[in-house]
Amino acid sequence: MSSDFLILAIESSCDETAVAILHPPGTILCSLIASQAEEHARFGGVVPEVASRNHLLAVDPLVRKALSDSGIDPSDLGAVAATSGPGLAPALLVGASYAKGFAMALGIPYLALNHLEGHLLSPFLGAEEIPPHLALLVSGGHTQLTLVRGVGDYTVLGRTLDDAAGEAFDKIAKLLGLPYPGGIEIDRLAATGNPKAHEFPQALPERENLDFSFSGLKTSVRYFLEKNPELPKSSQGMADLCASVRHAIVGVLLRKTEHAVEAAGVKRVALSGGVAANRALREGMTRLCQTRGWALHLPAPELATDNAAMMAFAAVHHLAAGERSPIAREISPQWQVGIGKEG
Ligand code: KG4
Ligand code: ZN
Repeated sequence: MSSDFLILAIESSCDETAVAILHPPGTILCSLIASQAEEHARFGGVVPEVASRNHLLAVDPLVRKALSDSGIDPSDLGAVAATSGPGLAPALLVGASYAKGFAMALGIPYLALNHLEGHLLSPFLGAEEIPPHLALLVSGGHTQLTLVRGVGDYTVLGRTLDDAAGEAFDKIAKLLGLPYPGGIEIDRLAATGNPKAHEFPQALPERENLDFSFSGLKTSVRYFLEKNPELPKSSQGMADLCASVRHAIVGVLLRKTEHAVEAAGVKRVALSGGVAANRALREGMTRLCQTRGWALHLPAPELATDNAAMMAFAAVHHLAAGERSPIAREISPQWQVGIGKEG
């Protein structure tokens, strides 16, 4: 699958403008990310119009930097890919429109790609074949257990009924007075805390139910803080809270993954999405897979959170299958994978 052309990928589904150049199947020549997290922090979440404007300012300089950092000429590019969904429409539109213009100017193929597929394939970056496996995708917008039979062949076995795991981390972090995005902060502060200090609920415990629900946990933490307002003010109190919250979220993710792997009848697990950077989840999943004799694929932490290298890798597989997207292809803000509503 190696080729003599390079792929330029652009990711702008949320609050990060990311650009990558990849030599198929898996040599990342450059992967740049311009984060707007600080700008959105004062609103406590991502504001689509602010994201859109920032993407517009960032995308062209970032592409130029990626080309010059990797010392390549645009004529070395064989395809331009962009995230087309799911995501915030005003944000997606910027990256996709830029990519289309770039592809048209160079007379090379354009590919509209699914962000979730980018995450799903990220633990395999560089692989020529994607083996059948059970994927736990945990990000700020999604939490789903997916049976992956190969590229493009996905069946969702379970997903969140309310908040995504990353969203639960972020909302609880906000209750704790931690800055956005709070998942990373909770993970960092949990390092010195006792995960058993407080017992928070882990919803939908039934074995056969592979869906998730995190809103009850959030409510339970809110009530707990109303009763114990002093706790987060001490550093040990905060550490114990963070460790206990992380324990509750990670515990349910691990248990449901175990049940899903058994239901799917595979012996291979992959973890992806921003929450896959969480240390307790990585360690817990590693232990689980070792105990059960399952193979585990973890993305490098920088490939777990949003990036364009994972999108370029998804492009490798679609290009190899002979796919191209029409320039007229619209963005698909609601585009899901594996639940029968393919965009
Ligand atoms: O995949 P991602 O970068 O963006 C989406 O597609 O949503 O995921 C972002 C999410 C945020 O909710 C962030 O708080 C969470 O991933 N996250 C973490 C960690 N690093 C990022 N959550 C827990 N622990 C982490 N270390
Ligand atoms: Zn993402």
